[in-house]
Amino acid sequence: MSSPRTSTVVLPGSFDPFTLGHLDLARRAAALAEHVVVAVSHNPGKKNLLDLETRRSVIAETLQAEGLDGRTEIRTLGRGLLVDFCREVGAGAVVRGLRSQLDLAYEEPMARMNRHLADIDTVFLLTDQNLAHISSSLVREVHALGGEVDDMLPPAAVAALADVS
Ligand code: PNS
Repeated sequence: MSSPRTSTVVLPGSFDPFTLGHLDLARRAAALAEHVVVAVSHNPGKKNLLDLETRRSVIAETLQAEGLDGRTEIRTLGRGLLVDFCREVGAGAVVRGLRSQLDLAYEEPMARMNRHLADIDTVFLLTDQNLAHISSSLVREVHALGGEVDDMLPPAAVAALADVS
């Protein structure tokens, strides 16, 4: 059997906003790999609630508060291929969370394509049952409609949302 190719994994996402679900994934990815690159996707054509710099600083503040800053790095994922980004940072695998079969239906073609393009595997972590109701899109919707979202977010994200409303 060949030796492992990597000690670095990439945790990609829009993180708009970074939720407690994302934080749980970052923690668990850092327990699996020596180094976790959190790749914050930036698509200038996409309208985000939080701008790129805010999303990055929310993640930085959160990972620092959790003591994960030594094992993680935050990078911007531009418009190129995720597999090219993985090569650039020396990562051999992508980590994504799965809350449900719906997530799997969305993730499966991307994971297969990434393997086809560059032999990059995706490691799926089943979302903690207590966090499986949380998605950034639903958090944005609940927040926009005046609902309470503070118990689904780390404090830095709560503060960032308060600033944009
Ligand atoms: O948090 P999101 O919005 O579900 O994250 C989606 C993301 C950034 C992981 C996804 O859009 C992605 O992988 N983008 C990179 C583009 C790419 O490589 N596409 C072709 C192969 S699937």
